[in-house]
Amino acid sequence: MSAKVGLEYRSRRRPESRPDRRRVYNSVVTELLPLTPDELLTTTRAVRKRLDLARPVDRSLIEECIEIAVQSPSGSNRQGWHWVLVEDPAKKLALANLYGEVFDKYMLAPASASYADGDTRALRRDAVSASARYLREHFHEVPTLLVAYHEGRTDSQPVASQAGYWGSVIPAVWSFMLALRARGLGSAWTTMTCKREAEVAALLGVPNDKYMQVGMFPIAYTIGTDFKPAPRLDTASVIHWDKW
Ligand SMILES: Cc1cc2nc3c(=O)[nH]c(=O)nc-3n(C[C@H](O)[C@H](O)[C@H](O)COP(=O)(O)O)c2cc1C
Repeated sequence: MSAKVGLEYRSRRRPESRPDRRRVYNSVVTELLPLTPDELLTTTRAVRKRLDLARPVDRSLIEECIEIAVQSPSGSNRQGWHWVLVEDPAKKLALANLYGEVFDKYMLAPASASYADGDTRALRRDAVSASARYLREHFHEVPTLLVAYHEGRTDSQPVASQAGYWGSVIPAVWSFMLALRARGLGSAWTTMTCKREAEVAALLGVPNDKYMQVGMFPIAYTIGTDFKPAPRLDTASVIHWDKW
């Protein structure tokens, strides 16, 4: 593991949507978008149609995002995350095909949730489906795929074990996605390949009896950086003070 040699932020205003702060990390200077913490948190979208499939992503940039992600909390400080990064075209195609098979079945199945008219989830459904279809068609063209893993298995275990297990890896993966966004890159959380976990593990040489797949994540520069907050349910319907 490489040692940190310097960590510093410099402020220098640049025209909108252009990176302005430069982060010096492991001697590499990285351009960061000029986003406040709240802007970063509210504009990190599931990016699919706006993934730049033509622009390669440098390995060092992805490794830098992982250096940031591993600062996340984990139960008992277990740090059981593993990051399998796939650039090999044949492997990407195989992974995309597995994803596509599960995706196609999922899209044919009746919708598991129905929402009332005017519900933001119903209003967004067609756009999300079209975007998801696009990713399904282009997954193999994404410059780098991350297949995230977590140590241990929770098959058939009680809620407390599941909560501790997933709560120890999801913050790290989300931090990774935030770090990508800060650098002008994007991703989308996907879990379809978890249905074909054993095949994915065999393809990547992962010991499937000791690790669980968290999901598969496209990694690419985004086409433009002007993402916006998305419509969400009114928080009044989900906040509970003192009782449900
Ligand atoms: C656990 C989880 C699984 C997801 N699985 C998929 C998936 O398989 N394919 C996909 O295109 N998007 C997937 N998504 C992305 C969601 O569709 C997306 O987060 C949601 O529509 C909200 O999008 P937004 O944050 O850009 O507003 C998944 C997200 C999560 C958190």
